[in-house]
Amino acid sequence: MSNIESVLVENRVFPPSEATVKAARISGMPAYEAMCHEAERDLEGFWARLAKDNVVWTKPFTTTLNESNAPFYKWFEDGELNASANCLDKHVGTPVENKTAIIFEADDGAVTRVTYKEMLARVGQFANALKAQGIKKGDRVIIYMPMGVEGVVAMQACARIGATHSVVFGGFSAKALNERIIDAGAVAVVTANYQMRGGKELPLKSIVDEGIGMGGCDTLKTVLVYMRTATACNMVAGRDKTFAEVLEGQGSDCPPVAVNAEHPLFVLYTSGSTGKPKGVQHSTGGYLLWAKLTMDWTFDIRPDDVFWCTADIGWITGHTYVAYGPLAAGATQVIFEGIPTFPHAGRFWQMIEKHKATVFYTAPTAIRSLIKAAETDEKVHPKNWDLSSLRILGTVGEPINPEAWMWYYRNVGGERCPVVDTFWQTETGGHMITPLPGATPLVPGSCTLPLPGIMAAIVDETGKDVPNGAGGMLVVKRPWPSMIRTIWGDPERFKKSYFPEEMGGKLYLAGDGAVRDAKRGYFRITGRIDDVLNVSGHRLGTMEIESALVAKTDLVAEAAVVGRPDDLTGEAICAFVVLKRARPSGEEAKQIAADLRNWVAKEIGPIAKPKDIRFGDNLPKTRSGKIMRRLLRSIAKGEAITQDVSTLENPAILEQLAQTN
Ligand code: WT7
Repeated sequence: MSNIESVLVENRVFPPSEATVKAARISGMPAYEAMCHEAERDLEGFWARLAKDNVVWTKPFTTTLNESNAPFYKWFEDGELNASANCLDKHVGTPVENKTAIIFEADDGAVTRVTYKEMLARVGQFANALKAQGIKKGDRVIIYMPMGVEGVVAMQACARIGATHSVVFGGFSAKALNERIIDAGAVAVVTANYQMRGGKELPLKSIVDEGIGMGGCDTLKTVLVYMRTATACNMVAGRDKTFAEVLEGQGSDCPPVAVNAEHPLFVLYTSGSTGKPKGVQHSTGGYLLWAKLTMDWTFDIRPDDVFWCTADIGWITGHTYVAYGPLAAGATQVIFEGIPTFPHAGRFWQMIEKHKATVFYTAPTAIRSLIKAAETDEKVHPKNWDLSSLRILGTVGEPINPEAWMWYYRNVGGERCPVVDTFWQTETGGHMITPLPGATPLVPGSCTLPLPGIMAAIVDETGKDVPNGAGGMLVVKRPWPSMIRTIWGDPERFKKSYFPEEMGGKLYLAGDGAVRDAKRGYFRITGRIDDVLNVSGHRLGTMEIESALVAKTDLVAEAAVVGRPDDLTGEAICAFVVLKRARPSGEEAKQIAADLRNWVAKEIGPIAKPKDIRFGDNLPKTRSGKIMRRLLRSIAKGEAITQDVSTLENPAILEQLAQTN
């Protein structure tokens, strides 16, 4: 049975215990429903109330939602605030001030702690250093950093002075970095000499140099380098400075710059259906509200919690649930530099025990790989560690198969901790559809119900609601505070991608397929409906990988990329390639495939390497020349072709492509 099928017949239900309900902030389903009704009755009043209660405004807003230029919605538009002040200054003079903000565990296991007060001082000092480099409100700063305190400090410091940050995941290539510097018009890059992952020292600064060296980065003036390791790196005189150099002599007091609620806090690039990544632009007010609110709602965060989200700051999860949410909520959080399998695959469980983590939030792909590791080696099974501190478990990034859900619930949560399967996206800023730990009865493999105020629905191609039980496209019918504001520099693409005219231009189209069950109306996400793949919870456009392949102009004539299901990574990348020379076979084919994989890793990043590469004399095309991707998807899965192939120009090609290399 496929994951989707097994999810559809899932009938195990796990209601929260009475004690959990009693202790929770949103306590029981009636409390959740009351909030939903409040939002339905008066959406603006609902959000205005929450925004007043959860955000510190230096200038209060008087209008809540402006829809006059839909879909370019504005929230709290005449209000002013500073995001960093909402994460740090807010706690001054409260018991949180001397509390640990971050427990940092390095790759080698060394632990450092930073209090809220110290964090405020470090952010202030770094913000002053940025200002001394001439960086000011409205400038864009690229952050290409390892996981650690310094990355969060850099993000918070940008927010403090009103600079818009754009974090690029440390696994992306020089070319990806070059494109993002240019697209964002960045004035500075904040990076490190190296990063430590799995006991290895991996370069960052040399990739920055290579990226800038590709040309076009005319706006860039400064590169700031954190010396993570003792190994020297190339420094360009006049352009590059170490953290030590720029922090020297800077005081820790830096007054936060009040910005308009709609001021872009950050731009985060993500993959879409075309070859060019989209710079998802987020606001300050609505985004901050959502980061704080979802910490309270979804994780029911409490003063004595030790929160641990394993996501890298290079992804949206690391923005909302590492860099902003936990700090805005005044929580203690764990930040981990390394990887889950080093020095052994029990590292996560060991760290939960060591730091007494109470809320643990990770990706299904990590869970699946750790299940596999525990099945082959008893010594890394979670049962070897004391996980009794845990209270709530969460997952994010891709659908979780019920088997993995059950394993997580049993072996990590001891059948005691609710598992919140949180559905959301880079574009949504934070959780959208998720169980609430003290209210929602859980069903393995289902993200259950939308948060209060999130008007999620499932519709057909014309935008009409479909009945429960029937699949369709996931949409959100009304705007919400933390939604994407635009695509950086490309408002037309924003409109076309998310508010398509064919569906009336008013529905936010998530790009995922979904179905609601008949009994509870619970949502199940069935996967992307566009040309976007989800590999280990990482989003990649098929066109992006195709463009990378055909960029090898001396070798590749044509390429088509599709996804196929994979037990470990959710989806795997399968590339069909036509070379500019005869179709290779045997050893030669293996060699060329290996070269192409490395090429793609260099063009985009190692996460984009195709798992399968099949060579053909041609690709299956209609007589009008359109590549028939649905056939390629069947071949990639190893299925027999049962579809209609009558419009195919060259049916014989199917047989050839089906042969594995
Ligand atoms: C896509 C968004 C949300 C932060 C990490 C990924 C998939 C995400 C779930 C979930 C099923 C999920 C969707 C979505 N996705 N969470 N709980 N169940 N699918 O952010 O890179 O913007 O990717 O991830 O397909 O559209 P992203």
